[in-house]
Amino acid sequence: MAFIPEDKLLEIKDAARIEEVVGQYVQLTQRGKNLLGLCPFHPDTAPSFTVAPDKGIFHCFGCGAGGNVFSFLMQHQRLSFPEAVQELARRYGITITMRDLGPEGGRQAKKRQLMQEINREAAAFYKSSLAGPKGGKARDYIQKRGLTKEVIRDFHIGYAPDEWDGLRRHLQNKGISLDAAQEVGLVVPRAQGGYYDRFRDRVMFPILDRQERVIAFGGRIIGVGEPKYLNSPESPLYSKGRTLYGLPQAQEALRLTGVALVVEGYLDLLALRVHGIANVVATLGTALTKEQVRILKNQVAKAVLVFDGDAAGARAMRRAFPIFASEGLAVRVLPLPAGQDPDTYAFQHGVEIFQSPWDQAQPWFAFLVEELIAAHGLEVEGRVRIAEELRPYFQALSDPVEQGLWLRFTGERLGVDEAALRRSLTSAAPVAAQRLAPGHSLLNNPEERLLKWVLHHPGIVPLEELEDWAQEFQNQELKSLLELVIRSLKEEGALDHSLLIQRVEEEHLRQQICALTLGKGEPSTELLADEWRRARQMQRLKKALAQIKEELAKAAAIPGGEELLALQVQKLALEQQLQDLKH
Ligand code: UTP
Ligand code: MN
Repeated sequence: MAFIPEDKLLEIKDAARIEEVVGQYVQLTQRGKNLLGLCPFHPDTAPSFTVAPDKGIFHCFGCGAGGNVFSFLMQHQRLSFPEAVQELARRYGITITMRDLGPEGGRQAKKRQLMQEINREAAAFYKSSLAGPKGGKARDYIQKRGLTKEVIRDFHIGYAPDEWDGLRRHLQNKGISLDAAQEVGLVVPRAQGGYYDRFRDRVMFPILDRQERVIAFGGRIIGVGEPKYLNSPESPLYSKGRTLYGLPQAQEALRLTGVALVVEGYLDLLALRVHGIANVVATLGTALTKEQVRILKNQVAKAVLVFDGDAAGARAMRRAFPIFASEGLAVRVLPLPAGQDPDTYAFQHGVEIFQSPWDQAQPWFAFLVEELIAAHGLEVEGRVRIAEELRPYFQALSDPVEQGLWLRFTGERLGVDEAALRRSLTSAAPVAAQRLAPGHSLLNNPEERLLKWVLHHPGIVPLEELEDWAQEFQNQELKSLLELVIRSLKEEGALDHSLLIQRVEEEHLRQQICALTLGKGEPSTELLADEWRRARQMQRLKKALAQIKEELAKAAAIPGGEELLALQVQKLALEQQLQDLKH
C-alpha cells in the first residue's frame, strides 16, 4: 500500500503483536487460541470482538469491523495509514527513513502536507476575518441563523471577506505556493496571469477529516443569491463521496448513542448542534454513497435519515435505502413536515424528535410504501405501479423474515393478495430497476465458501488447482481475493492473513477476509471442494466428448476409416469416465 515498502511493513507487523496493540485499548480474554473482548467500534454488550494472534487479524461479529494491526490503529486512533505505520514503528523502535517512502511517495507526502498547511492557513484567515472589522455583516447573518459561539468555535466557522485577493495576499505574505493553493481550490488563475480568491463575501464552513484536518470548504452567500453555496473542488485531500460533514465533531456522540442522524446541509447539522444534538453528520447535498454508509457502519449500528421535507428530500432518501440494505446498516426515516428542513424544524419546534430518533423514526420500507401510495393512489393502475416500483427495494431486503413481514404489511396496505404480491415482488427485475438492487448476496455462495475454506486451510489445495479455481470464479471480488491468496502462497510459501489484508485496498474486502477467516459458521468441508472439482472435471469431459463427436461425424464421411475406430474407442472411454464421475 501507498509508499512504505512491504518488507518494512512486515518488520513492523512482526514486532507489533496485534493482541498487544489491541490490548492497550480493549480488555481481552483468552478464548481457545483467540482472544475475545467488547468491540470498540460499536456499542457492544456481549463480547463480539475477536483477535486472532496467530493470523494477526481481528474481526467483530457484531458490526463487521475487521483488519490487521495497522487497520486497527487507523480506525481506533483515527490515523491515516502512513501515520499508523509510523506510530507503530515509533512504539516498537523501528526506524522509517525518507528513503523508505521512496521518491514518489516522498513527493506525494510533501505535497499533501503542503495542501493541508494551506487549508489550515486559509481557515485561520477566514476565522480572523469573521472576528475582525470587515466581519460585521457575516456576524449579523450567523447570528440571525441562530448559531452560538460554541458552535462557531467547534466548527471553525469563518468569513471570506468581500475582496478579490484577501486570501491570496495573506498566503503570499506567508510565502505559500499559490500553485498548491489553486490545487485545493482556494484561488483561481486569471487569464492575464496571477490568481484571485475563489471565496468572496461568504460565510465559510471548513470540512474536516477524521484527524480534524481541514480538507475543503463550503462557502454560503450572505442572504439570497446564486450560487447559494460554493464548495471546494475535489483534490488529493478531498473526495466528496467519501466525506461526511461534521464527522469528527460527532464521533464521540455516535459512539455513545449508536445512532447517526444523517442530514443534508451544513446549517441543518449546525442547527441541531445548537440545540444540543451531537450525533449528526451531513451529506452536503449529494446523493449518499456506499463509502459514506461504510464510514457510518464503522461508527454506529443504526442510521436515521432526516432529509428536507420536499420531493427532492424524499427522492434522496429513496436512493439511499438500497445502499444501506446492501451495506447492512439498519436505517429508518424521520420525515419532516412539507417545506421544512432540520434547521427550520429545530428552531420552530425544538429537537424532541431528535432525542431518541430511532424510536421516533419510521422503518424505511413503510415510508416508501406510503410515499408510493401518495404518488400513485390506490386505483388498480396505481397499485400495479406501486408493486412494480417496490420490487428492487423488496429484493434489496436481505433477510427473508423481514421480507415476509413487509410482504404482509404491503399486501394489507394495498389490499392485494400476499401470494400474488410475492410473485410480483420476487420476479426478475427489469434492467433499470436491477441497478438499484444491492450487489449479489454472498450468502451460501459456493465461491465464497471455497474461499473461506482456503483461508482456513491454506496449503491443502494444490496451487495449480487454486489457479484453476481463480480462472473460473465469477464474482470478481472473490476472484481477486483468491488471486491474492495464491500470490501469498507462491511468494511466501504460506498464508499470512495480516499481510494479505495489507495488500487489499478496499476496506470492505479487508473486512470480508477477516469475516471469512474468523466469522461464524464452520468452514465448508473438503466435500465442497471435491464437489467443485468433480463438477469441473465433468465439464471438461463433456467438452472433450462433444469435440470427439464432431470429429466422428467428419471421419464417418471419409471411407476406409481406421481413424473412425480410434475415435470411437476414445468416445467410449470418455463416456465411461463420465459415468464413473456421476456415481
Ligand atoms: P439546501 O439548499 O437544503 O441548503 O442544500 P441548506 O443546507 O438548507 O442551507 P440554508 O438553510 O438555505 O442556508 C443542502 C446542502 O446542499 C449543498 C450544501 O452542502 C447544502 O448545505 N448545496 C446546496 C450546495 O453545495 N450548493 C448549493 O448551491 C446548494
Ligand atoms: Mn436550510
